[in-house]
Amino acid sequence: MAISACQALLLMALAAAALMMSTASGTLQYNFYSSSCPKAEEAVRNATVKIISNNPTMGAAIVRLFFHDCFVKGCDASILLDQSSSNPQPEKLAIPLRGYDAVNTIKAAVEAVCPGVVSCADILAFAARDSAMVSGGFTFPMLGGRRDGLASDLRDIFGSIPAPNMQVQQLVGSFSAKGLSAGDLVALSGAHSFGITHCSFVTPRLYPAVDPTLNATYAAALRKVCPQSSGGGTVLNNNNITDPNVLSNQYYKNLGTREVLFKSDQTLTSDAATAKMVQDNADNPVAWMARFAGAMVRMGGIEVLTGNQGEIRKVCGATNSGS
Ligand code: HEM
Ligand SMILES: *[C@@H]1O[C@H](CO)[C@@H](O)[C@H](O)[C@H]1NC(C)=O
Ligand SMILES: *[C@@H]1O[C@H](CO)[C@@H](O)[C@H](O)[C@H]1NC(C)=O
Ligand SMILES: *[C@@H]1O[C@H](CO)[C@@H](O)[C@H](O)[C@H]1NC(C)=O
Repeated sequence: MAISACQALLLMALAAAALMMSTASGTLQYNFYSSSCPKAEEAVRNATVKIISNNPTMGAAIVRLFFHDCFVKGCDASILLDQSSSNPQPEKLAIPLRGYDAVNTIKAAVEAVCPGVVSCADILAFAARDSAMVSGGFTFPMLGGRRDGLASDLRDIFGSIPAPNMQVQQLVGSFSAKGLSAGDLVALSGAHSFGITHCSFVTPRLYPAVDPTLNATYAAALRKVCPQSSGGGTVLNNNNITDPNVLSNQYYKNLGTREVLFKSDQTLTSDAATAKMVQDNADNPVAWMARFAGAMVRMGGIEVLTGNQGEIRKVCGATNSGS
């Protein structure tokens, strides 16, 4: 579903609500690069649109990278740092994610317009917003002004990233530890409407017995795609019911028919408050888009570096000193 910026539904409510967002460490702003690099957001958008039109699964990869960046030590692009002799154990070794090449390509496009001005943390935030535009058909203002961190340590992953076997109370706790609400958890979980998953995250719900909270017909189809011996290699679509490259509120409808992949997804219907939010997001696609947009902006404010903290990396895979 490749669409142009002007065809996407623009959700402005947020921008009207707050032009700036203060965080513990400083202030992020809309149009942060309006004087230092007026074409920054356009360059990110152009590059992101091109990447997703070449490979429609990349929108999901970029949105997930943004989530993993922000939940581990804040949105500081620490997830993007490669292994080096001075940093042998970066975050990215802990969980295999896709989309690093895409982010490097987007960074190179921005560097060609304004070298040394736009942080990798902001590039990832803008690219995630633009992935929602291309794959979801809606767009929204995203705050800028994040700086890039100088360190990345895989041990920071543990306890930060929620696990797919968690129950709703644990998920709410994990989001609340980052300053996000249960509504944000439910809205952002809609990202599981697109992208791909490895069978290893699903087989625990299929063998030896089918998880009773999984739709039996769907479970039978999943058992064919993910046989008991499938291990980690086989991938399946997060949402096999409509187009798996479309970010939409279909996820919430799939929760209703128990056709979602993870326990952590289905558990959102086992608590009265989150179940009501799920139903509302299923019934009101535009309201969900606005909630998703608001939650993406809030997630983008987690523990950011601003002002003179950190640096503006030249390349996203290494700090400027080479670590
Ligand atoms: C609520 C807790 C969450 C859990 C337990 C969780 C867990 C997972 C797992 C296990 C996968 C499959 C990974 C693989 O097979 O390689 C996955 C994929 C994905 N997740 Fe989540 N996730 C959560 C929240 C989020 C959030 C907040 C977002 C973004 C807003 C997100 C976006 C995605 C996307 C887009 C994919 C597909 C990635 C791709 O296509 O490569 N997830 N998630
Ligand atoms: C983005 O793409 C448009 C349309 O192709 C082009 O006119 C514009 O110059 C591009 N902007 C940047 C910053 O690359
Ligand atoms: C996914 O969709 C295809 C085509 O409709 C179908 O053949 C396959 O069984 C589905 N897989 C699952 C796990 O539902
Ligand atoms: C299982 O999925 C089918 C197909 O979407 C649906 O008709 C049925 O109601 C679902 N069963 C349950 C228990 O939700």
